[in-house]
Amino acid sequence: DCIASHRVIRLPGFIDVHVHVREPGATHKEDWSSCTAAALAGGVTTILAMPNTNPPTVDEAAFNLTQKLARAGARCDFGVYVGASTDNYSKLTSLAPAAAGLKMYLNETFTTLKLDDLSIWMKHFEHWPRAWPLCAHAEGSHTAAVILMAELFNRPVHVCHVARKEEILVIRAAKERGLPVTCEVAPHHLFLTSDDLDTVGQGRGKVKPPLVTKEDQDALWDNMAFIDIFATDHAPHTVEEKNSDNPPPGFPGLETMVPLLLTAVAESRLTIEDLVERLYTNPRKIFNLPEQPDTYIEIDLETTWIIPPAMKFSKAQWTPFAGRSVKGMVRRVVLRGEVAYIDGEVLARPGFGLDVRSMRPPPAADQLSINIPPLSSLPTSEPTSPLKRIPGDVR
Ligand code: NCD
Ligand code: ZN
Ligand code: ZN
Ligand code: ZN
Repeated sequence: DCIASHRVIRLPGFIDVHVHVREPGATHKEDWSSCTAAALAGGVTTILAMPNTNPPTVDEAAFNLTQKLARAGARCDFGVYVGASTDNYSKLTSLAPAAAGLKMYLNETFTTLKLDDLSIWMKHFEHWPRAWPLCAHAEGSHTAAVILMAELFNRPVHVCHVARKEEILVIRAAKERGLPVTCEVAPHHLFLTSDDLDTVGQGRGKVKPPLVTKEDQDALWDNMAFIDIFATDHAPHTVEEKNSDNPPPGFPGLETMVPLLLTAVAESRLTIEDLVERLYTNPRKIFNLPEQPDTYIEIDLETTWIIPPAMKFSKAQWTPFAGRSVKGMVRRVVLRGEVAYIDGEVLARPGFGLDVRSMRPPPAADQLSINIPPLSSLPTSEPTSPLKRIPGDVR
């Protein structure tokens, strides 16, 4: 099987801004080593790790512990979020430059960090430094409420895993009004609906936000120009947990995201530029991430394969996409000059990954504008043009 006989393109290392690593606290589900192996196999060279660990990263001690585990275990680059609690708003300020961002949980999900009181949300919007990312799990009408907070406190907000028509439409309206909101969508909301629950299984199919209707899914595709980022929300739980009477919500996603999106490219529903914008350019802008020198991924656009019952590297050992035919495959990942992944083998060692916030001094606040032009106004080109693209071209 010779790579030269396939159409292979080189793209920048992708960034996943929404990953649940599970270490500390639930290493039977995932740990830094397995999670970053899954990332590299999926073409992702930077992950940002969510704070709903045990202990949750809501104070300096827990943040330092997670950072230490990350430094020792990560095979790819990483950042660590801090989580908003009811009483930590003033203490988090000093952690901001070292954190991926602040995460606020505003709805019921797999976390102990849910915030119910609007006055607590306000405290966090007031205290968290404007130059650093603030992300929210904000479903349904909470999407509108969190955008109001951003407007009231004159700072950007990033809405996680948008799934419903009402959510993307209110974000669209806010963007058209010039409000400082960005958003991400997860592959499972682009490629699965509640109709798939029969195949996936009701218990395994539990995820927050839930799989919703075809009408919701169509609204995401119809408003692709308003989706800034694709992020997996990689939320591994074991098969035993997912098959139990009270299954926790969440899907693994790192190893299947890029093949699913490449399939949409093969079907002319997306372009390669759409992927690069949402998995590299916009994540770097919105999250203020450094460049990774000598870093790229090589993608085979032609190989068709069936997603197996479980992917190789995540400890989840199941996937909601099992049995799907996909077209496109990650062949090789080079991270900072080293071959980190090649054809099913992860070569990067635990400890090779660097913390994105230690890679350069934080830039001045006035350089951190997130004024992203609507994608529809950007020049587009045919999917063949990225063949000539080298990573430097998209910066
Ligand atoms: C996430 C988890 O398991 O940590 N679960 C999920 O269903 N998405 C939590 C979250 O992102 O809301
Ligand atoms: Zn071949
Ligand atoms: Zn969430
Ligand atoms: Zn999540």
